[in-house]
Amino acid sequence: MKKHTTRSLRHYKLNEKKKPLHMLTCYDFQTAQLLNETELDMILVGDSLGNVILGYDTTVEVSLETMILFSKAVKKGASEKFVVADLPFGSYSSINKGLDSAVKLFQQSNVEALKLEGAYPHELKLIERLTQIGIPVMGHIGLTPQSVHELGGYYTHGKDEASKNKLMTEAMNLEKAGCFAIVLECVEETLATEITKNLSIPTIGIGSGSKTDGQVLVINDLLHIGKNDPPKFCQPIANLYQEKRKLIENYLKR
Ligand code: KIV
Repeated sequence: MKKHTTRSLRHYKLNEKKKPLHMLTCYDFQTAQLLNETELDMILVGDSLGNVILGYDTTVEVSLETMILFSKAVKKGASEKFVVADLPFGSYSSINKGLDSAVKLFQQSNVEALKLEGAYPHELKLIERLTQIGIPVMGHIGLTPQSVHELGGYYTHGKDEASKNKLMTEAMNLEKAGCFAIVLECVEETLATEITKNLSIPTIGIGSGSKTDGQVLVINDLLHIGKNDPPKFCQPIANLYQEKRKLIENYLKR
């Protein structure tokens, strides 16, 4: 499969002839090597590594140094994939700080693009500046886990008129600022479909229905790697937690 670029991704819209874009998270070298051999479109080194790898309660605790470390390992294993890395909480709280953090993460990890959460004016300005200096940006709206404390929990967004209008405006502003794609996390399904129709760049949904141009999932949820059940919107294709546990128990009986 030919490696994606921002040129192949920027105009990728779901239609009868096209499959949705598939994106999975990845946090380590060996899994990256495996994904590199598949038809996966994009890899995300998500700050969800804070939850599933480091056992943090929220992604707020993830630092820029941690994102650099994990992104480097993934990119080393997945040279043939378009890899996106998350800018973590606090690393883009001002335009100048965001520019410094983004250059550091992009240059040191060698990934193809960065993702950041939100669409406030300083974030839109930052996205404009980053794209101008050659750093492609994926947007992320709806449930933005770095703001979980401000949002007051994890829930579906875009259910009332005010929230719908806000999300539609944010999506359009992110496209205008230069994003090549936008993650819609836990956005009410009909709104996610409407946003998808209104944009010329692809929407990548998670918990936002099946009509977005692509889908992103946390690989640990898809393979049920962890002890806890994955979120309701993810139908796991295996239960590696139980399988690995059985294998270890059998080994210990030898
Ligand atoms: O960090 C992450 O894994 C993400 C996805 C859930 C979109 O941002």
